Amino acid sequence: MVTPGEPGDPATPIPEEDVRPVRASVADTVRIATEIGAPTIAIGVVKRRPAMMALAHRTHADRPAIRLMRKLRHKYGAGPLRLRVPGRSLSLVLDPAQVGGLLAGAPTPFSPDTEEKNAALRHFQPHGVLISEGGRRERRRELNEAVLEPGLPLHHLAGPWAKVIHEEGGRITDGTTVLDADLFTRHWWTIVRRVTLGGDTAVDREITALLDELRLDANWAYARQRQSAVRERFLALVRHQVGLGRPDSLAGELAKCAEAADDGADPAGQLPHWLFAFDAAGIVALRALALLATHPAQRERALGELEGLDLTEPHQLPYLRSCVLESVRLWPTTPALLRESREETAWGPEGTSFLVYTPFFHRDHETLSYADHFAPDIWLDGRAQRNPALVPFSGGPGICPGRDVVLFTASTLLAVLLKEAEYTPEGTAATLVPGRLPSTMDHFGIRFGVG
Ligand code: HEM
Repeated sequence: MVTPGEPGDPATPIPEEDVRPVRASVADTVRIATEIGAPTIAIGVVKRRPAMMALAHRTHADRPAIRLMRKLRHKYGAGPLRLRVPGRSLSLVLDPAQVGGLLAGAPTPFSPDTEEKNAALRHFQPHGVLISEGGRRERRRELNEAVLEPGLPLHHLAGPWAKVIHEEGGRITDGTTVLDADLFTRHWWTIVRRVTLGGDTAVDREITALLDELRLDANWAYARQRQSAVRERFLALVRHQVGLGRPDSLAGELAKCAEAADDGADPAGQLPHWLFAFDAAGIVALRALALLATHPAQRERALGELEGLDLTEPHQLPYLRSCVLESVRLWPTTPALLRESREETAWGPEGTSFLVYTPFFHRDHETLSYADHFAPDIWLDGRAQRNPALVPFSGGPGICPGRDVVLFTASTLLAVLLKEAEYTPEGTAATLVPGRLPSTMDHFGIRFGVG
């Protein structure tokens, strides 16, 4: 797999002369707002809303948005496309190479800390790296990388985590004939608390319950007042649990970074983002199980990879990791990648916000032969890595530092589940027709018969 900044990383700056901003008509700006912006916000950007997800699945909400993006690219060319929004400079990225170019430009000139993201995320992670700038951002990024160990398929704590996942994963199918999203999610969060906080006590559970509450507010960004008391209790409990320095956990590793506290990195302040982002990892794992349950050939390949393995020990599982990556490609959990320019560039004036609408680039029939197929091989043969617009974990210097932890936890849990039982797709899982995968996937509606 290509690592950011290394040769072959598609997220590399592109020559300024290849960037020619064009102005959208007022009518197209309105269509972009109603067909791309509104549905993305309605399903819940920070915490998905079950009723809206069910509606989005039934109405294939992403399909018209993807179609509109294709039309815009035909009409306007590579762009970027400057929208006509009074008082704001806002641009839509239309070209795959420009996705890589924009992401390569983080954090300067293109900062990940945008106004909208800041308004949403400060509800629960005021010191998160994603909404930090300058020297603080640098130090927080370093700290994130030191603890999360991106680039290593097996984190140095993968051994103890494999045991946790094996134990808890085994409980998911224990004595049940139906596995639904609720049951899966309950066990997933137990795994997340043990891996992240180092335990699953009442305090750990209170932390994730408070986070749920704060994330619902974050969906409304500036439109909702911050619940200061809830946020302060949440952050205090996180700080307390980090202070315990529990072994074999991400919190325990943060506790060892006390010296970073002095330079403004705020180690404990990084953990709220990790807990929040593990929600996406659970969604992705559940969708991957639905893909495997509806694609017998891929399931056989995955089972083949597991033959003779002792799953109480950590394994790299390249095929299952690719299945997880496919789950995020097909249904990106961050559909809107946002950047904000901190200086004037060939892309537009200082203060321009850029939107990369990832479902379009990940499912574009015109550039991807496998657009609506479940194709784990693209992650194994290098096709996906060569495409600068396939960015399930973002790209460039702001790429997700938790990606290898996600791929490890999700693929290990899938391995345990596949070995335990067979899964008959029901609910929204039954809508996954090979070769014609739906553009929107309501994970809350996934269900399996367990045999
Ligand atoms: C399926 C699960 C996940 C996906 C798809 C994912 C994807 C992403 C994406 C797309 C970004 C860039 C966001 C942006 O530019 O606005 C990001 C950033 C980030 N992710 Fe993840 N993520 C996942 C889980 C995790 C987990 C579990 C952790 C930590 C344990 C994590 C840690 C981070 C951090 C710290 C950032 C901010 C990086 C920075 O600004 O430099 N992520 N992630």
